[in-house]
Amino acid sequence: MNARLDWSSRAGGPLRGDVRVPGDKSVSHRGLMLAAIADGSSRIRGFLEGEDTRATAAVLAQLGVRIDAPSPGERIVHGVGLHGLRRSEQPLDCGNAGTGMRLLAGLLAGQAFDSTLVGDASLSKRPMRRVTDPLAQMGARIDTRDGMPPLRLHGGSALCGIHYELPIASAQVKSALLLAGLYAGGTTEVIEPHPTRDYTERMLAAFGWPITFEPGRARLEGGHRLRATDVEVPADFSSAAFFLVAASMVPGSELRLPAVGLNPRRTGLLQALRLMGADIRVERLREAGGEPVGDLLVRHAPLHGIELPAALVPDMIDEFPVLFVAAAAAAGRTVIRGAAELRVKESDRIATMATGLRTLGVAIEETPDGAIIDGGRIGAGTVESLTDHRIAMSFAVAGLTAAGPVRINDCRHVATSFPGFLDLANGCGFVLQDGG
Ligand code: S3P
Repeated sequence: MNARLDWSSRAGGPLRGDVRVPGDKSVSHRGLMLAAIADGSSRIRGFLEGEDTRATAAVLAQLGVRIDAPSPGERIVHGVGLHGLRRSEQPLDCGNAGTGMRLLAGLLAGQAFDSTLVGDASLSKRPMRRVTDPLAQMGARIDTRDGMPPLRLHGGSALCGIHYELPIASAQVKSALLLAGLYAGGTTEVIEPHPTRDYTERMLAAFGWPITFEPGRARLEGGHRLRATDVEVPADFSSAAFFLVAASMVPGSELRLPAVGLNPRRTGLLQALRLMGADIRVERLREAGGEPVGDLLVRHAPLHGIELPAALVPDMIDEFPVLFVAAAAAAGRTVIRGAAELRVKESDRIATMATGLRTLGVAIEETPDGAIIDGGRIGAGTVESLTDHRIAMSFAVAGLTAAGPVRINDCRHVATSFPGFLDLANGCGFVLQDGG
């Protein structure tokens, strides 16, 4: 990880142009993992060249998988088959990536060999029992440090499929159990309290594994094989989100975001922003790589506060930091509830956003599972990203209509999910500088 990096964001002119955001993080992680244990070679196009997904590629390479990178955004993964992974003597470093660690825990729980998964300071504080408890029910033996990383997985456990009702909506936990289920005897079935992103299910089917799934439920049996297939990664809606809010906020703006993934389990922010008065259109809606994809056209529109419908929360779980900014810029009150999961992301996103927005003069009341934000005016000041990539980018958006510069401390983690954000943002009209 590079040295500390501070940013300064300030108001400029309208935002204009085409903004091509990088590949989807969730799809990139899963593409690598499934291709790694498939028979034959798979090509991944649109791969996110982020630190999180590169960490997963490096872990798989440590486990004996050859991965070629013929060009940026492209990987050829030479699959080793379901039982072809090999023990690594060294710990497997997932970096900042919760998705990487939790999915790899599922993938590695049923292997014949031991593994140790480690992460950076932020990941080392994130809860892992949500995945290790159900994996233990399947027969896995995993040691944690008080429920947190490192995870020591003991090899040679015979896994058994379970029927598991998730206590919280989590695509990561669901995916970990499905990956472990590939190695388990019998049926693994996962029921969710609210449907979450279904990339693992769709991709398992594309790799030829028999699976039945519908929103809120997925079921598979062990003992099949995966066949190599090519993976097309759409642009990441979560990265597009910063530009959707930015262009909505700045008068005179008009941005086009081509080929963005529009899986309905990801687009809650689109609906929330439209309820707030945003002008966002989907053009050329089509299917690519088995996923709905479209070009997003966003124009400035005055935003107003809303009571966020609770049903949207899981479909926009990564977009709350930037929604907080939209709410701070909007006229009137926005009420967010039912989003307690935000407290265990790369930072406690409710507290980090509330502290930062308050520093910028915004009236915001933190609640255990959300916030009440009285928007209208954003002031100048210095805020902390707490090394959380999405917090850093969200405050860069806040600077666009702020009364003076917004300085954002420690933005080096932005490259975990959005390499090149600074150049892309400045290219369409942000005034964002590094070096504070
Ligand atoms: C992800 C699931 C979500 C999300 C994360 C990516 C995934 O996490 O926040 O950025 O790829 O499965 P949870 O499963 O913890 O909600």
